Amino acid sequence: MSQSPLDTTAAFQALHTHHAAIKDKSLRELFAADSSRFDQFSVSAAGLFLDYAKNNVTADTMTQLFALARAHQVEARREAMFCGEKINTTEHRAVLHTALRAPPLPALEVDGQKVSAEVHAVLQRIKIFSAAIRCGEWLGHSGKRITDIVNIGIGGSDLGPKMVCQALRPYQHAHLKMHFVSNVDGDDLDALLAQVEPHSTLFVIASKTFSTAETMMNAHSARSWFLRTGNEVQESDLRKHFVAVSTNVEGVTAFGIDPANMFPFWDWVGGRYSVWSSIGLSVALAIGFEQFTEFLAGAHAMDNHFRRAPLEQNMPVILALLGVWYRNFFDYRSISIAPYHQDLGNFPSYLQQLEMESNGKRVSLDGRTLDVASCPIIWGNVGTNGQHTYFQLLHQGSDITPVDFIATLTASNQLPGHQAALLANCFAQSEAFMRGKSADEAKVEMQAKGMPADDIEALLPHRTFPGNRPSNTILMTALTPANLGALIALYEHKVFVQGVIWNINSFDQWGVELGKVLARNILSEINGTPAPHRHDSSTNGLIEMARAALR
Ligand code: F6P
Repeated sequence: MSQSPLDTTAAFQALHTHHAAIKDKSLRELFAADSSRFDQFSVSAAGLFLDYAKNNVTADTMTQLFALARAHQVEARREAMFCGEKINTTEHRAVLHTALRAPPLPALEVDGQKVSAEVHAVLQRIKIFSAAIRCGEWLGHSGKRITDIVNIGIGGSDLGPKMVCQALRPYQHAHLKMHFVSNVDGDDLDALLAQVEPHSTLFVIASKTFSTAETMMNAHSARSWFLRTGNEVQESDLRKHFVAVSTNVEGVTAFGIDPANMFPFWDWVGGRYSVWSSIGLSVALAIGFEQFTEFLAGAHAMDNHFRRAPLEQNMPVILALLGVWYRNFFDYRSISIAPYHQDLGNFPSYLQQLEMESNGKRVSLDGRTLDVASCPIIWGNVGTNGQHTYFQLLHQGSDITPVDFIATLTASNQLPGHQAALLANCFAQSEAFMRGKSADEAKVEMQAKGMPADDIEALLPHRTFPGNRPSNTILMTALTPANLGALIALYEHKVFVQGVIWNINSFDQWGVELGKVLARNILSEINGTPAPHRHDSSTNGLIEMARAALR
């Protein structure tokens, strides 16, 4: 396969030359040389503030990175996405998650489809249904109020609604409990079913294709549990307890869900971009339609910023370019996400799918092998917990991992002192990553404690911090639906810009298909006839062990 020549383009080459010139300048030196870095390298948009001063960049670096974005036609490609061109070329689809959060006017029409009108018609149905559940007008078949919502989905049909419901916990309806089941491991569903009661539970089966094996198995098991003897229910009662969110009306009907209880969306919504569509039904049920609308509006505000702001002030573009700078020029291989907000605990896993399923590709749009690295590994956890575990590696490990700190200035809890302590930890970490602690500083510190010279000598290498470890800090006033919407959209557009620069299709996911097909075959061998010669000796051996255990 021939190579896609990116690294040799003028823009990449200019950045390589620039990198060679500045790579040895530490962040400490950059800050010492320029006291205006915070003002110079920060930007606000759609309720978010990004401080990117603690990155290994100068004004010159940024100029060259913006030139790279222009050379790769980021502006034209961005417009193509917003206008509904079929930029998902391997699936011949438009990419229109931005239309899901746009107001009805100006109306968008693509290939004869009245996109805005259809989107708002479905939103209207979500509004009516969520209100009926929340106010107790929609009752279970025996007249009981719905108290538990179980979202059954996986990937984008799980992570989006789960992350958002957790993030907006203070906005949740006081008497509706939200549950999320994704794993085909029966322990996931089994543990949940032990907590809920069939007469007061609503299952939302969320699947774009309505054919994903894990979701279908969980949905069928939930259906059998609902219909089991002793529950005093009939098939016709399903319609009060099972609704679907899907693009596949035939599949939904075959499962036994009334199409009137199906909330549709469209093939131009990718799974990992679907929380804005009816996949967000669970979110609307949890926080109410009005707040759901705020969530969409926050994302739309970020869309407007991304579409209209010049690249130099464009938050998603800046975030994307910094990522490219570290990946392709410093060869940093992962990014850690550190939310300093307990309710953003699921945000790192959400971003793992968003970034790695989108940009975890090694061939260009025209099918050639990339000659540069693409998506880094994305990982993380809530900040203060990470501080007491893997932050050791971030401070003193042999790899450098840029960190995105995310924090809110105010808290939703009223506990005195906690928010200041949380923010102090967040800011202290980014300062420590940036400054480190030199051998001289560590020595002075130990001398001040009266430590013997021999001990100081022995401990010095261990108590020295190299520093020069970059980070971004994203702040918002509070974790409101609108700010959360803007935050997610910020990362979506970051991913888009990086995909454009690497010239890859950020909107397909062929990589996840292979395992699905193989699992289907192996399942039939575990349950049915063994085929010892079909696989390698390892896989054959493992299948035999499973057959023996499950016999
Ligand atoms: O297997 C990957 C994937 O296709 C994701 O892209 C998607 O979010 C997830 O599975 C769930 O798919 P569906 O909503 O069709 O069940």
